[in-house]
Amino acid sequence: MQIAVTIEEVRKQVRAWKQEGLTVGLVPTMGYLHEGHTSLMDAARENDRIVVSIFVNPMQFGPNEDLASYPRDLKHDVELCEKHGVDLVFHPSPEEMYGGEFYSYVDMNVLTQELCGLSRPVHFRGVCTVVTKLFNIVTPDRAYFGQKDAQQLAVIRRMVKDLNMPLTVVGCPIIREADGLAKSSRNTYLTPEERTAALVLSRSVFLGKEMAEQGEKDCGKITSAMTALIRKEPLAEIDYVKIVDADTMQQVEEIRGAVLGAVAVRIGTTRLIDNFMTGI
Ligand code: PAF
Repeated sequence: MQIAVTIEEVRKQVRAWKQEGLTVGLVPTMGYLHEGHTSLMDAARENDRIVVSIFVNPMQFGPNEDLASYPRDLKHDVELCEKHGVDLVFHPSPEEMYGGEFYSYVDMNVLTQELCGLSRPVHFRGVCTVVTKLFNIVTPDRAYFGQKDAQQLAVIRRMVKDLNMPLTVVGCPIIREADGLAKSSRNTYLTPEERTAALVLSRSVFLGKEMAEQGEKDCGKITSAMTALIRKEPLAEIDYVKIVDADTMQQVEEIRGAVLGAVAVRIGTTRLIDNFMTGI
């Protein structure tokens, strides 16, 4: 497995693969890898070669967010990539990605003006910009993203469609702990007491999904039940509990087509998200 820190190294390797007619899958990550990420690597096995990028992207963090404390463990990440058959790890420095003067951004409206976009106003501009850069550097045939970050996945799908980017976006299912908590690098911030409290997220999305699947169409009734469940947990502070159209991320009152039920909840100082899809 090759570890590249410069854009040029990645370009050279990918050029060589493409000259051989090989397909390339990209798994973009911010590191501190867990089973959610390795499930993306395993899905990317459908390509001849797999590239994993590990880059804690400063552009997608707001001024009061956790950029400095975001967990990092490159040694463990590299071992995990090796174990999952990754061919190349791209681990650039912020200078390599944004060094010198940097004036260009990729941005989106509508989809980014709901859910996490309301409390994280610069987040999706940072995600769209770095993902575009990674797509331009790696030129993958397919790129893999987790459904846990459902809004991010919808935004990237839309960006690829709107801007005619020549690749396929593959969404992969949420990976959960045995007790239901969605895997996230940020779970590591939780104290044992908060870890137990954090189960309200998965419990609320399981409840919402069950109500929808039993025929409840009224989104207000579903989100009220989910909200009531979360409010029973004293350590939980709700950012949002919403049901939105699965493509546009706009709130809906009634379940007719494919919808996303999404929650963001602060447990202590840690903001966690979870979701369910229904009506697909
Ligand atoms: O989901 C993440 O880890 C990040 O938002 C991504 C897609 C790697 C962009 O930095």
